[in-house]
Amino acid sequence: MFRVKLEERQGTQEILVSKEERLLYCGLRNGFNLAHDCASGVCGTCKAVLVSGEVSSLWSEAPGNKIVREERNEFLMCQAVAESDVHIKVRPAVPSPAPKPQPGTLKGVIKNHRNLNPNVAVFEYHLSQPVQFLAGQFATVQLEGIPGYRAYSMTNYSAEPTQSLDFVVKHIPGGKFTDWLFQESRDGYELMGFGPVGRAVFAPESDGDFIVLAGGSGIAGIMAILQHASVCGHFEKYRGDVVFGLNGPQDVFFLDELNLLAGRHNNLRVIVALVEPDRSGSLTSDYLNLEFSEGFLSNAANEVLGDLSEITVAFVAGPPLAVETSQKMLVMERKVSARKMRFDRFG
Ligand SMILES: Cc1cc2nc3c(=O)[nH]c(=O)nc-3n(C[C@H](O)[C@H](O)[C@H](O)COP(=O)(O)OP(=O)(O)OC[C@H]3O[C@@H](n4cnc5c(N)ncnc54)[C@H](O)[C@@H]3O)c2cc1C
Ligand code: FES
Repeated sequence: MFRVKLEERQGTQEILVSKEERLLYCGLRNGFNLAHDCASGVCGTCKAVLVSGEVSSLWSEAPGNKIVREERNEFLMCQAVAESDVHIKVRPAVPSPAPKPQPGTLKGVIKNHRNLNPNVAVFEYHLSQPVQFLAGQFATVQLEGIPGYRAYSMTNYSAEPTQSLDFVVKHIPGGKFTDWLFQESRDGYELMGFGPVGRAVFAPESDGDFIVLAGGSGIAGIMAILQHASVCGHFEKYRGDVVFGLNGPQDVFFLDELNLLAGRHNNLRVIVALVEPDRSGSLTSDYLNLEFSEGFLSNAANEVLGDLSEITVAFVAGPPLAVETSQKMLVMERKVSARKMRFDRFG
């Protein structure tokens, strides 16, 4: 074990870390409010400064390293382990909209793995111990033999601690974990994990009308948010307008669930935006509570969303391009304050 001094503006505290544990995970597990977004090497938000001692990076090509200045002794805490006792200057996380459960190390197996279409699968990460998480949070998982952790948002919502974390996963051809997952049934395989993490969460006490722009598997955490909003009576007082962007009719998933939710609540409107239109019209006749529109997510959302001046939150989630164009459209064209945005960028 090594000693880790974590220095913040308020002072310095010490924790112990094993040689194997990532410094970000150790800090979060010990209750430190450390800046992070993806917990998987992509965003760069967890960068910290090494004051003394030695750390090594587990993934030198991590995209998050783009904003790391080595000459200032900066490094990514989510990709670093200690090689000696260390002293680190850390940045605090921006406040979460709702009090978050403390994350920790997870252990569990894959259950009920099945495909929803050729490129989208679901599975339950069945944990050995129950955990509590907020709608909109995610966990990271690691499969033995594949380096690094992958982040997946929970699609289920549970008010109580639960052993089931339900994931929906899009196949990324050439991607190590998803290539493995889409080869055959993976029920019974063990995954190590960490979580829950993420601050693009639903806060029913303070959130009012909200909008959602979700591209593809970006709908994952939104499914949990809509279920929470549904069971806590949120739609009795407030509106939810969801735009779900997909490539074409062959790519649809979760429409049964969304149709059911939209049918239950007059204040919930769900628009499915398809890049390739549904020429047969079968989606429109099968899903009477959903609306369908054409075009890329941000363009379609700009067209179908009404006045946004009263919304309290804009949830934006999905692949990087969909998130960036949607955020840009909301800020530049619809004058939505960046402070109202809660986003999960999947890469
Ligand atoms: C906050 C967040 C939530 C997400 N939620 C979802 C979701 O609900 N559904 C979904 O389908 N996708 C989600 N993703 C994307 C997902 O985490 C994976 O990037 C995606 O499934 C591709 O994984 P892959 O292994 O096939 O691709 P790869 O290209 O092999 O790997 C992709 C990711 O794995 C990690 N990684 C790769 N190589 C290494 C390495 N050598 N060392 C360390 N780490 C490495 C990195 O995070 C990298 O971005 C989310 C991403 C983020 C950041
Ligand atoms: S939290 Fe470490 S790079 Fe995103």
